[in-house]
Amino acid sequence: MSVVILGIETSCDETSAAVIVDGIDIKSNIIASQVELHRKFGGVVPEVASRKHYELINHVIIEALEEAGVTYQDLDAVAVTYGPGLVGALLVGVSAGKAMAYALGKPLIGVNHIEGHIYANFLHQPDLQFPLLCLVVSGGHTDLVLIEHHGVYRPLGRTRDDAAGEAFDKVARAMGLGYPGGPLIDRLAQEGDPQAIYIPRAYLEEGSLDFSFSGTKTAVLNYLNRAQQKGEEVKKADLAASFQQSVVDVLVDKTLAAAEWYNVKTVMLAGGVAANGLLRRQMQQKAGDRNIFVTYPPLELCTDNAAMIACSAYYKYLRSDFAPLTLNAVPGLKLGADKY
Ligand code: KG4
Ligand code: ZN
Repeated sequence: MSVVILGIETSCDETSAAVIVDGIDIKSNIIASQVELHRKFGGVVPEVASRKHYELINHVIIEALEEAGVTYQDLDAVAVTYGPGLVGALLVGVSAGKAMAYALGKPLIGVNHIEGHIYANFLHQPDLQFPLLCLVVSGGHTDLVLIEHHGVYRPLGRTRDDAAGEAFDKVARAMGLGYPGGPLIDRLAQEGDPQAIYIPRAYLEEGSLDFSFSGTKTAVLNYLNRAQQKGEEVKKADLAASFQQSVVDVLVDKTLAAAEWYNVKTVMLAGGVAANGLLRRQMQQKAGDRNIFVTYPPLELCTDNAAMIACSAYYKYLRSDFAPLTLNAVPGLKLGADKY
């Protein structure tokens, strides 16, 4: 008997619904992005995001069911992201998920958004062997997590200030590249010299697996300001490449140090920044030298989507880890600390 799960994701600025069978078979994964709407503000405006989710959610869910060729009755469970994220945005998905589960008499599964990003890896590699190490790098998070079994997480490190994706976005904005900044810097950096401009790397104190990117970001802003004051032309491709290299060096070095310390043989990348070309290449190459296997989701599953939420929910379904209909949005939800 196969397990059919509808996943719903509205934690930030994508309204998404997906139908997944047995945690691997993506029957549909509809993603309505609000990027265009937020671009003119240079970032996500929470109130605008919630209103847009509210407008789109029913259409996106119906489209996901239609594209998958399933009816409401075919669903075995309804899964929804309930944190972390923007409270007003989360509430739209949570309300829709609860209403459907109640009306259909099907189990409700509450999913942590970060857990969803991690599980994007299981969509194409369900047989990964534990223990696993995951570097979660998104617009809101930079976490290094040891995963002992399905659903059992041990946080090893996190950012002390800006998330990696946030640093990409802020630097791109200061350079006048646009929003979201990650893919733009990724592309521009391909034409630049990563050694051209010195940008410091924050390794923090000896043995620390935490991250810090605000100094890296400030170094770029100072460079831009100095150049402007002196009337010098900035080689944007070189600056993009140098900044990206400094972020990637720290991400790769700390992740591989953690893999050695905890004797983990498989490293996963997750979250929007896992789409970064240099991060993928450098992690793969340096891990290969140490006989560590690296895996990451296909590009379209790195950024926010509901397929990863439904995949994560599949493993919760197998454990009968269901949420009550009183499930609420939890904007600051921690990984492995479900609140229902
Ligand atoms: O996971 P995600 O879609 O949303 C959050 O949960 O935050 O991640 C979005 C972040 C943005 O900061 C975006 O600039 C970054 O991921 N990003 C990238 C790339 N593609 C997206 N950063 C670096 N290189 C990329 N190719
Ligand atoms: Zn995300």
